[in-house]
Amino acid sequence: ADIVSFYGKHQAGITTPAQDFIIFAAFDVTAAALGDVRKLFQDWTKAAAAMAKGELLGDSNDNLNLPPSDTGEAEGLSPSRTTITFGVGPSFFDGRYGLAGKRPAPLTDLPAFGGDELREEWSGGDIGVQVNANDMQIAFHALRNLARIARGKAVLRWTQEGFQRTSSSDPSGATPRNLMGFRDGTGNPDVTDEAEMNKVVWASAADGMAWMNGGSYMAVRRIRMRVEVWDRSTLGDQEATFGRHRASGAPLGAVHERDKLDFDQKDEKGKPVIPMNAHVRLAHGDGTVKILRRSYSYSSGIDNKTGQLDAGLLFICYNRDSRKQFIPMQQKLGQSDLLNEYIVHTGSAVFACFPGVSEGGYIGETLF
Ligand code: HEM
Repeated sequence: ADIVSFYGKHQAGITTPAQDFIIFAAFDVTAAALGDVRKLFQDWTKAAAAMAKGELLGDSNDNLNLPPSDTGEAEGLSPSRTTITFGVGPSFFDGRYGLAGKRPAPLTDLPAFGGDELREEWSGGDIGVQVNANDMQIAFHALRNLARIARGKAVLRWTQEGFQRTSSSDPSGATPRNLMGFRDGTGNPDVTDEAEMNKVVWASAADGMAWMNGGSYMAVRRIRMRVEVWDRSTLGDQEATFGRHRASGAPLGAVHERDKLDFDQKDEKGKPVIPMNAHVRLAHGDGTVKILRRSYSYSSGIDNKTGQLDAGLLFICYNRDSRKQFIPMQQKLGQSDLLNEYIVHTGSAVFACFPGVSEGGYIGETLF
C-alpha cells in the first residue's frame, strides 16, 4: 500500500500526492561521453525502481572484502511511498553531448525577477532529482545512493531538504500549512482530472520536442521567508497579503477553504475585499494560466550574519510550458505581490522532467 510504482506513462512524483519529505538535488554531469550519461541513467533507473519498492540495492551486502552495495540505513524499512523524479536543465544542452538541438524551447533559463537575490550555491544544475518519501531517512538513503552510483559521471551541485506536516500528525490529509501558517495548495488544479493535467502539466510531442512527450517542466525556487518580520505583522495584514483567511484557508469574504475566489467583492468603503496586490489575486490572474505546485517547507539552520532563521518554502511547480505559465506568473508576482515584503528568492533552477518509462526501459531513453 505504501509503494508508488516507479514505472508508468509519466514519472512518479509529479501528480503523486505529496509525501511528507523531500530532498531535492541538482547534479552537474562530469561524464566525458554521452554513452556514460546513458549508463548513469540506466543505473539510476534500476536503483530508483528498486528503492520505490523498498528493496536493497545490489545483490548482496555481505562480502567482507567489499564495500556494501547498499549503504544500509533503509534496510528493513517500509517503502514509504518513495518517488524519484529526474530532469535535465538548460546547461545539459550546452553542446557537450551533441544534444544542443534537442533542447526544448520551454526549457529556457529564467529571466531575472523582481526581488531575486539568487545565490550560486542554490541555483542551476545539469540534472535535477526530486526525491520524496514519507520518511526522511529513506529519502536521504535514496539520494545518497544515487550520488554514489553517479561517481565519476556526475557530482552534486546543491541540495535542499524539505518537510511538511506528516501524514501521521494529520491522517485526514487536509491541505498542509506553510511556515507562515497558511494552507498552501488549495488552488492547485485537480491531479485526478486527466484532461486538465494534459493541459497544465504534461508536455506533448505536439509542442515540438517528441522526446518530452509525457514529460513536464519543473521550476524550483528556494524562497526564504523573513520569518521575524512576518511574525511581527498583524493577522489582518497577513490575511490581506495572501487574500485568504489563515485559520480556515477560505478566501477573504468567504467561509470555507474551497469557496470560490470572488475578486469583485467590495467592503463597505468600496475597497476590494481581496486586495489588488494580494498573492492569490495576482497568482490567479484571469484563471486561465495554471501551474501544479508541489512545494515543501524548509529550515536550514540560521543565517550566520544576522542570527535569523533560514527557513521558507522550497517552491516546486510543474507545468507544460514555463514560458507561458510559470514565467509570466512569477513576473507579475515579482513586481507587485504584497508577499514580497516577507520573502526573498535565494535559489533557482529549471528542469525538463522526462516522460515515464515502462519496465525494462530507462529514464531518458527518448533523449539519449
Ligand atoms: C496560492 C503561499 C510563492 C503561485 C497560494 C496560497 C498561499 C501561497 C498561502 C493560497 C492557498 C493556495 O491556493 O495554495 C505562497 C508562499 C510563497 C508562494 C508562502 C513563497 C514563499 C508562489 C510562487 C508562485 C505561486 C513563486 C508562482 C510563480 C501560486 C498560485 C496560487 C497560489 C498559482 C493559486 C492561485 C489560485 O487560487 O488560482 N500561495 N506562495 N506562489 N500561489 Fe503561492
